[in-house]
Amino acid sequence: MIREIVVVTLSPDGTPHAAPMGLILPPDGAPVLSPFRPSRTLDNLMARRQAVLNYTDDVRVFAGCVCGRRDWPTRPARRVAGGVLETALAHAEVEVVRVEDDPVRPRFTLSIVHEETHAPFRGLNRAKAAVIEGAVLVSRLHLLPARQIDAEMEHLAVAVRKTAAPEEAEAWQWLVDHVAAWRAGRAAGTAA
Ligand SMILES: Cc1cc2nc3c(=O)[nH]c(=O)nc-3n(C[C@H](O)[C@H](O)[C@H](O)COP(=O)(O)O)c2cc1C
Repeated sequence: MIREIVVVTLSPDGTPHAAPMGLILPPDGAPVLSPFRPSRTLDNLMARRQAVLNYTDDVRVFAGCVCGRRDWPTRPARRVAGGVLETALAHAEVEVVRVEDDPVRPRFTLSIVHEETHAPFRGLNRAKAAVIEGAVLVSRLHLLPARQIDAEMEHLAVAVRKTAAPEEAEAWQWLVDHVAAWRAGRAAGTAA
């Protein structure tokens, strides 16, 4: 199983760095993070061997990070170098116990050293799921054909229209605007 979370690592100067990542949960094994190169998260994990896994349903963080809005409020973690998102429903503080290096996608096996729950989970929402899918598409703009991006976003927009709160609608608009800006940048010869 893969759960979509927000990893907060600390950069060399101590600045928290937030990035959405898939947390791989093998049936009987320890959790694994696997960032593609190049990645600030990867560099920070290699250097500090610690991170915070934030479980949040605030999908603005997922959409924002892939659109360049990285400045999400955090507070220091209790036991590791990393940041706890203000909107986290829960978080886990982790240490890296194993690195499988790879030229494309290293794997970091993690050990949880501390966990906290902050707020109740209040149910699933289709617009939140759509924003997560849209954010994944935006993170792959350079890999996927424009046709496919447009078709998938058109389909996802239905759930956003029907079920979004203002937060999900705002996050969706960031994604739509980012796709347009990226294409305009490409047409002008510089990707946004
Ligand atoms: C829901 C979601 C899951 C993602 N999972 C991964 C992942 O497992 N590995 C990865 O390298 N990037 C993943 N991404 C893309 C990264 O968040 C994005 O490329 C980010 O900029 C990572 O680079 P950074 O570490 O330099 O911030 C995901 C994006 C989203 C929206």
